[in-house]
Amino acid sequence: MKILAIETSCDDTGIAVLEVSKTGGFSVLSNIVASQIEIHKEYGGVYPTLAKREHQKNLIPAFEQALKEAGLLEENKKKNRPATFLPRGKKVIVEKILEREPELCKKLVLFIKKYEKPSASRRIDLIAVTNGPGLEPCLWVGVNFAKAISFAWDIPIVPVNHIESHILVNILGNPPSHEATARQVKFPAIALVVSGGHTQIILIKKIGSYKILGETRDDAAGECFDKAARILNLEYPGGPIIAKLAEKGEAGKITLPRPMINTKDYDFSFSGLKTAVLYAWQKIKKDPAFRSSEKAVQQQTIANMSAEIQQAIVDVLIKKTIKAAKDYNAKTIILGGGVSANHELKTQLFIKIKEDLPNTELLFPQVDHSTDNGLMTAITGFFHKKNTVDWESIQANGNLRIGQ
Ligand code: KG4
Ligand code: ZN
Repeated sequence: MKILAIETSCDDTGIAVLEVSKTGGFSVLSNIVASQIEIHKEYGGVYPTLAKREHQKNLIPAFEQALKEAGLLEENKKKNRPATFLPRGKKVIVEKILEREPELCKKLVLFIKKYEKPSASRRIDLIAVTNGPGLEPCLWVGVNFAKAISFAWDIPIVPVNHIESHILVNILGNPPSHEATARQVKFPAIALVVSGGHTQIILIKKIGSYKILGETRDDAAGECFDKAARILNLEYPGGPIIAKLAEKGEAGKITLPRPMINTKDYDFSFSGLKTAVLYAWQKIKKDPAFRSSEKAVQQQTIANMSAEIQQAIVDVLIKKTIKAAKDYNAKTIILGGGVSANHELKTQLFIKIKEDLPNTELLFPQVDHSTDNGLMTAITGFFHKKNTVDWESIQANGNLRIGQ
């Protein structure tokens, strides 16, 4: 079966086409991500209304490219598209679905006129769309777009949880394998989902059965990287930049707290760490020795600060994940979310698992599957293929939870 996936939960517009064989093997036919980083850099973070506007702009080009790469596009050769294709009544409903996205609506109507509906061997069997959690205005663009296609092309639709997608993308393997199937994952598993909006430790008994053991009480780990970068006058997103600078720095030269590292729960708190970065940085900047030092020395201080920020976050994440894995006898530890692209997090967690839990396997996504993309949505849609719903009933929910 072929699954078309749409992901617009934050600042990446993702469209993917996944083919799943009868034996459950995955073939990635396309996975297009239109990033908005350049736009959000100027503001040092993601602004939902701006991101919504960009999704509206990016969806059709990404959709066209994804279908083209998947070999599903066929131009309508008839000069005058027969009126039966998108009859007036249908067009009115598509316009109603996308009434809050008029720019996107116009482009979609043209697209539907220009191309044939993929049929026969090109048939799309299912649409998977992220309906939460995330930035609600952004989620709605993707949801409405998916509804319009589902209606216009008459394809069943399934809503998908974004956190579950960050977990299930790991089923693909690293490097991704066409033979990947869910059977390879051993349960129970503990997932650490760390992104710009979430930091959660989740117990997985089987696919579809999730319990949130703990989560951040304030800022997410990715948010802490981003806010710390802003304090240091570095660009958005902060995670990759801090990680890069940290390579040249040394953790421990400057000391920062590891909030909640010794608490008995699985919760996190990163806003205190961000404040500690602010105070430490203000102090350094006022120091006459720093002010009069050469540029190279100042840069080394920023590198040391970056290394300490990264280490503080990694220390807390690893401590709580290992604790959860031990407490619940996890056979697998699964990493997901943008921060799982962090090399130190993966390496240090891998080493700790080898030492403390030698029978537990670590799964983490390849770097471009850590951050948001449509492929992860498609995979999750596949596991929920029986949960299709009436397109009219799908609601975006910024606070959607994966479990209790
Ligand atoms: O999952 P994601 O793409 O979007 C959300 O759902 O939030 O995660 C984005 C977050 C950003 O906060 C970014 O700074 C962080 O992931 N990130 C990283 C790295 N790459 C991305 N954090 C640490 N190290 C990285 N290499
Ligand atoms: Zn995400």
